[in-house]
Amino acid sequence: CGRQSSRSLKQRLLVVANRLPVSAVRKDEDSWSLEISAGGLVSALLGVKDFEAKWIGWAGVNVPDEVGQRALTKALAEKRCIPVFLDEEIVHQYYNGYCNNILWPLFHYLGLPQEDRLATTRSFQSQFDAYKRANQMFADVVNKHYEEGDVVWCHDYHLMFLPECLKKYNINMKVGWFLHTPFPSSEIHRTLPSRSELLKSVLAADLVGFHTYDYARHFVSACTRILGLEGTREGVEDQGRLTRVAAFPIGIDSERFIRALELPQVQDDIRELKERFAGRKVMLGVDRLDMIKGIPQKILAFEKFLEENANWRDKVVLLQIAVPTRTDVPEYQKLTSQVHEIVGRINGRFGTLTAVPIHHLDRSLDFHQLCALYAVTDIALVTSLRDGMNLVSYEFVACQDSKKGVLILSEFAGAAQSLGAGAILVNPWNITEVASAIGQALEMTAEDREKRHRHNFTHVTTHTAQNWAETFVSELNDTIIEAHLRRRN
Ligand code: G6P
Repeated sequence: CGRQSSRSLKQRLLVVANRLPVSAVRKDEDSWSLEISAGGLVSALLGVKDFEAKWIGWAGVNVPDEVGQRALTKALAEKRCIPVFLDEEIVHQYYNGYCNNILWPLFHYLGLPQEDRLATTRSFQSQFDAYKRANQMFADVVNKHYEEGDVVWCHDYHLMFLPECLKKYNINMKVGWFLHTPFPSSEIHRTLPSRSELLKSVLAADLVGFHTYDYARHFVSACTRILGLEGTREGVEDQGRLTRVAAFPIGIDSERFIRALELPQVQDDIRELKERFAGRKVMLGVDRLDMIKGIPQKILAFEKFLEENANWRDKVVLLQIAVPTRTDVPEYQKLTSQVHEIVGRINGRFGTLTAVPIHHLDRSLDFHQLCALYAVTDIALVTSLRDGMNLVSYEFVACQDSKKGVLILSEFAGAAQSLGAGAILVNPWNITEVASAIGQALEMTAEDREKRHRHNFTHVTTHTAQNWAETFVSELNDTIIEAHLRRRN
């Protein structure tokens, strides 16, 4: 009885995101193995506890047959996940096309692809139609699993159509939508041919959240300038109905990282890494291999640093972990070859028979290896050209309480607003500036490092993923109560 009442006190949540926290790999006809998915959204949401949450999303794999679908649904149910099955064609048009070739670059200020500049081009329109169809498929699954009282929390740019589809099913559904990327200036958003439809659908949600106040402000201006609606301090108003818009900066489960550092296997890895890189300062980059992460620019800045500081050449090493992502999108394929070419050239130029300046890995590390790597790092380089938040910077800080290394952070990452005072902020496009930030970080006094680390560590350990989720969900509930009261009066 006690257990039942504490269970019922927990808010039930349906978390809907394009990608489930686990991706499926088929073993044989009816068996699957599940691996943790990459990316900031997953890493933050894994830190959200104390809700009775179920996930709805795509398992990252095409499963055309019913036997496979049944087996996967069963395997995922154990992880409280519910799959949305998308076929190859829809993945191609919706995920590779509209989401990752159009919305993703646009929201990160990289513009629309040339061939899709005209709204009338067939590929743009068919990708947009597929996007709407895919969002409807997500809505169907949500609707099937929805129970009265659930909060439905939709995530990210893949699902901008979902709030409208859900409210069509049930106007009383509590719907929140959160964007994990930047929302660009309204001047950028207005270049998108489907600009109005997307905004209108998002406004069907009760609460719309962003990482930073700037993104929220850009969204409200897009609604006022493009849709002609009224922007207020609270959000956007349309004929007396308010959609609340606010900033909710995300965080990580910092305790999970701090605890991991105590594990014997992580301690062993730390010892081994220290031995391997003895006598050299370790610089680290951990990114998905994505054009927004500014990997070529970062490596070129490192080259410039080596060029200008011959005394450091054999005393510093850059470890770049580049996790492959969206490998079917041509832009990502081009980026992979470009990065390999630059790394090869620099290693050829500055390498010796026994050591190279850059260790570049095209793969992810497991959680424990990653914690060990963060812990031995002297300087983390997070130099995204644009980034919604960037949780790698948070993870690094969480693992640095003994070393107190330096964070070099792009001023165009959302994290610059929370960790800016403790980091060295840089414009990632300015290679000279990043090169000199590397020099500054290497020469920084222990006292300065301690002070900066303390600021960031306090932030990361007090602004956690759990706080973020609690604040969002309680604001959503309050918004709905206030809307009822307004209607009654
Ligand atoms: C970013 C997005 C997430 C996405 C992740 C990984 O963090 O905001 O929504 O899941 O990248 O990208 P992928 O395309 O592999 O899901």
